[in-house]
Amino acid sequence: MAGLNCGVTVALLGVLLLGVERLPRGAEAFEIALPRGSGITVLIKLGTLPVPMKPCYIVISKRQVPMLSIKSGERQVFTFSCQNPENHFVIEIEKKIDCMSGPCPFGEVQLQPATSVLPTLNRTFIWEVTAHKSIGLELQFSVPRLRQIGPGESCPDGVTHSISGRLDATVVRIGTFCGNGTVSRIKMQEGVKMALHLPWFHPRNISGFSIANRSSIKRLCIIESVFEGEGSATLMSANYPEGFPEDELMTWQFVVPPHLRASVSFLNYNLSNCERKEERVEYYIPGSTTNPEVFRLEDKQPGNMAGNFNLSLQGCDQDAQSPGILRLRFQVLVQHPQNESNKVYVVDLSNERGMSLTIEPRPVKHGRRFVPGCFVCLESRTCSTNLTLTPGSKHRISFLCDDLTRLWMNAENTISCRDHWYCHRKSYPLQVPGDILQLPVQLHDFSWKLLVPKDRLSLVLVPAQKLQQHTHERPCNTSFSYLVASAVPSQDLYFGSFCPGGSIEQIQVKQNISVTLRTFAPNFRQEVSRQGLTVSFIPYFKEEGIFTVTPDTKSKVYLRTPNWDRGLPSLTSVSWNISVPPDQVACLTFSKERTSVVCQTGRAFMIIQEQRTRAEEIFSLEEEVLPKPSFHRHSFWVNISNCSPASGKQLDLLFWVTLTPKTVDLTVTVIAVVGGGAFLLFALGLIICCVRKKKKKTNKGPAVGIYNGNINTQMPRQLKTYQKGRKDDDSHVYAVIDDTMVYGHLLQDSGGSFLQPEVDAYRPFQGAMGDCPPSPPPVCSRAPTLKLTTDEPPPCLAPESESEPYTFSHPSNGDVSNRNTDVPLLDTQEPVEPAE
Ligand SMILES: *[C@@H]1O[C@H](CO)[C@@H](O)[C@H](O)[C@H]1NC(C)=O
Ligand SMILES: *[C@@H]1O[C@H](CO)[C@@H](O)[C@H](O)[C@H]1NC(C)=O
Ligand SMILES: *[C@@H]1O[C@H](CO)[C@@H](O)[C@H](O)[C@H]1NC(C)=O
Ligand SMILES: *[C@@H]1O[C@H](CO)[C@@H](O)[C@H](O)[C@H]1NC(C)=O
Ligand SMILES: *[C@@H]1O[C@H](CO)[C@@H](O)[C@H](O)[C@H]1NC(C)=O
Ligand SMILES: *[C@@H]1O[C@H](CO)[C@@H](O)[C@H](O)[C@H]1NC(C)=O
Ligand SMILES: *[C@@H]1O[C@H](CO)[C@@H](O)[C@H](O)[C@H]1NC(C)=O
Ligand SMILES: *[C@@H]1O[C@H](CO)[C@@H](O)[C@H](O)[C@H]1NC(C)=O
Ligand SMILES: *[C@@H]1O[C@H](CO)[C@@H](O)[C@H](O)[C@H]1NC(C)=O
Ligand SMILES: *[C@@H]1O[C@H](CO)[C@@H](O)[C@H](O)[C@H]1NC(C)=O
Ligand SMILES: *[C@@H]1O[C@H](CO)[C@@H](O)[C@H](O)[C@H]1NC(C)=O
Ligand SMILES: *[C@@H]1O[C@H](CO)[C@@H](O)[C@H](O)[C@H]1NC(C)=O
Repeated sequence: MAGLNCGVTVALLGVLLLGVERLPRGAEAFEIALPRGSGITVLIKLGTLPVPMKPCYIVISKRQVPMLSIKSGERQVFTFSCQNPENHFVIEIEKKIDCMSGPCPFGEVQLQPATSVLPTLNRTFIWEVTAHKSIGLELQFSVPRLRQIGPGESCPDGVTHSISGRLDATVVRIGTFCGNGTVSRIKMQEGVKMALHLPWFHPRNISGFSIANRSSIKRLCIIESVFEGEGSATLMSANYPEGFPEDELMTWQFVVPPHLRASVSFLNYNLSNCERKEERVEYYIPGSTTNPEVFRLEDKQPGNMAGNFNLSLQGCDQDAQSPGILRLRFQVLVQHPQNESNKVYVVDLSNERGMSLTIEPRPVKHGRRFVPGCFVCLESRTCSTNLTLTPGSKHRISFLCDDLTRLWMNAENTISCRDHWYCHRKSYPLQVPGDILQLPVQLHDFSWKLLVPKDRLSLVLVPAQKLQQHTHERPCNTSFSYLVASAVPSQDLYFGSFCPGGSIEQIQVKQNISVTLRTFAPNFRQEVSRQGLTVSFIPYFKEEGIFTVTPDTKSKVYLRTPNWDRGLPSLTSVSWNISVPPDQVACLTFSKERTSVVCQTGRAFMIIQEQRTRAEEIFSLEEEVLPKPSFHRHSFWVNISNCSPASGKQLDLLFWVTLTPKTVDLTVTVIAVVGGGAFLLFALGLIICCVRKKKKKTNKGPAVGIYNGNINTQMPRQLKTYQKGRKDDDSHVYAVIDDTMVYGHLLQDSGGSFLQPEVDAYRPFQGAMGDCPPSPPPVCSRAPTLKLTTDEPPPCLAPESESEPYTFSHPSNGDVSNRNTDVPLLDTQEPVEPAE
């Protein structure tokens, strides 16, 4: 204890004495002693004198010298001959660190000798480390970090760091740096030379850096910059403004806080004349799927990058005759994201059990063109390009993205019923939650998976606003649609796409489905109130789907079979319950004359059944023509059952329904317009037709078979034979229709738009797709079979022909009302017979 106190006292005394000695400036004596083996050399020499001055000398033992060199193991005492030696002399202290022949002294680097024993001259401390080629040397700078300056620039406080490396025998300048920057580490290999210049007036007495050994970096150097907040850094290629060493690689790494964005811009560059390879820069950018991102120097460089990234400059093999120079000076700008708020959005899924939300990049083809990162951040900390929020918790998210339209979100919610006793008749709203709608990202899909116990329950979807089926003829123009598809893995069944603003009141489906709300336009937000479906669990039924359609008087309702483009799945039945208001007549029209289905097994057929009368017409969809436009005064069913079709010969049907007021008396109209002649023709047509019809009836066998719900892939045999007979008569049927069509334009003129000819049904008229076609003679457009159970007029009859007598075949299968309505048109368990 006593010894230590004593030492301190002596030191203090020494300082005091020194202070006294220094009073006559220039006259003070300095002693520099360099320990043997320290590897240090001190050189005091004349600096760059700005203005000619009175000469000054170093005085050693009364000898005046212009320069003094002290080697390790030596000791010198000297004074200066002038009062202000700092204006004349500079001192260089060079320390060689040899890592080749022994262990390297890594760690904090000291200023040796301490600045306190040195004359107050401009000092340059130089450390020269030589190491094996395979050893990476890393200079670590404590805060403040370094800022690179270009040629001709100087540091405000005069403290500069000049760093160079070595490539075999040649020195490569890495750069000159001031304090107060972003450069935190510089890694090199083979050797490094660091010169710290401290002006004589600067009080700094520490080196401010340490050296560590690292494994090989396999390139010229790596410079790391760390940004703590917003800021910028200007950096240069090695040797700048001279040329970058031939065929070398240099990397800059950037550490950027997650909530900020970085942009790179090239301030100056030059390219050399490459003989082989190409000069380029390569980036590793978080979130990029195409890393490394390769750019030419002349390209626009990436911007708005979130997260840490690195940038490498790769030289080429230069032309020996005229190498040119490769050089680069660039700036990295780190700032807050410009075009998005720092808003935090809360998505509360804590009360959800089956719902998850994914925010992900929209699939866009950019090729290899770089686009800046676009990130979603959870709790403002972890940012990623693709974020999935899981049910059961509350999530706080924010966005780091220059353009949020590059993202979209997809959500899925599973509503599953395990206990059919419990779920029966229960309802759930299918609505996109507000937490999701508030996010500044477009909702792409919101999918509900609706799962029910097999063969126990079915589902009914009731929309808040009646739905329209998307068809080519009447596409949906809303900003969103519901896509309804089977969710039974083995089943490829897509019911269709439906949007609000139509006539479909409900959709019943047999089993597990997915309902996907898909948006098509950003204005979904404005239309969001139109969304809304309610799903209820209802008793099981066997059709794949039942559509309840209530047409309104204003527009045509287009409907088409599920799986439109690929054809109705084999052995599938679908029904449409089409309501006709009491004061209206519905006209049902099929888009084509025949289906193209060819059955491999089973039969494809369609039943049109008047609901009130239960009168039904059965059509074989395989060989028969589809019904001509027909009128229905009461609600009716269109039930379609598919066979197992031959590949490429699928069943697809498009039909439409229009309503016209019942009060319009067609006969009166016809008479009024075309007069008795037309009526005569018309009546003639009817007569011919009815005669034919009668004839036909006599030709064929007994009543057409009843559709039996339980054995349905097998059409009643009689239908087939009857069908053949009828085919022969088709020409007559058409003749009559053509006659009618002759007057079609007249009917239209007088009777109003509802009488416009229908393009698809009547080839001779290529008019616009209008309303209902002119009423064809009812009997002629009649389907082959018709079954009436009451004295109701036949469904095809136009109002004026209500009382017309005619005969029709009808089945005698007893009481239709006993039929089990839950039975499908098809029973797939039933063995099916191949079609002939
Ligand atoms: C010492 O350094 C300062 C600033 O770095 C410079 O202006 C001055 O000329 C230097 N002095 C000599 C003698 O080189
Ligand atoms: C360091 O940066 C701060 C803020 O940018 C500035 O106020 C200060 O003058 C700078 N110091 C030096 C030595 O460059
Ligand atoms: C550097 O100077 C500060 C005072 O300015 C002093 O506290 C510190 O001990 C000195 N460090 C060295 C290594 O001399
Ligand atoms: C650093 O040097 C020490 C001994 O000098 C050696 O054991 C160690 O492996 C080196 N580390 C690296 C990364 O080269
Ligand atoms: C370097 O490129 C600039 C344009 O970026 C050009 O003006 C200049 O002449 C080039 N210098 C050399 C030495 O090639
Ligand atoms: C650049 O970044 C990528 C990805 O983070 C990393 O794999 C690679 O090692 C980095 N390269 C350098 C030289 O830092
Ligand atoms: C921000 O958005 C506006 C308009 O959308 C655009 O003009 C501007 O360039 C954007 N700014 C940035 C930094 O992306
Ligand atoms: C996002 O993540 C989800 C879930 O991991 C994955 O299904 C989806 O394909 C990913 N999207 C992209 C664009 O990588
Ligand atoms: C529907 O999903 C439920 C629950 O996953 C499953 O038990 C049932 O078998 C599925 N129904 C069909 C027809 O696959
Ligand atoms: C969509 O079509 C309906 C008629 O089909 C029309 O009334 C409505 O204005 C259209 N809406 C838009 C946004 O085009
Ligand atoms: C058919 O639709 C009408 C009108 O929506 C409805 O009243 C009737 O119950 C439906 N019939 C069946 C069997 O679903
Ligand atoms: C048509 O389908 C509905 C619903 O599946 C059913 O109630 C009706 O009985 C079927 N009609 C005929 C004639 O099969």
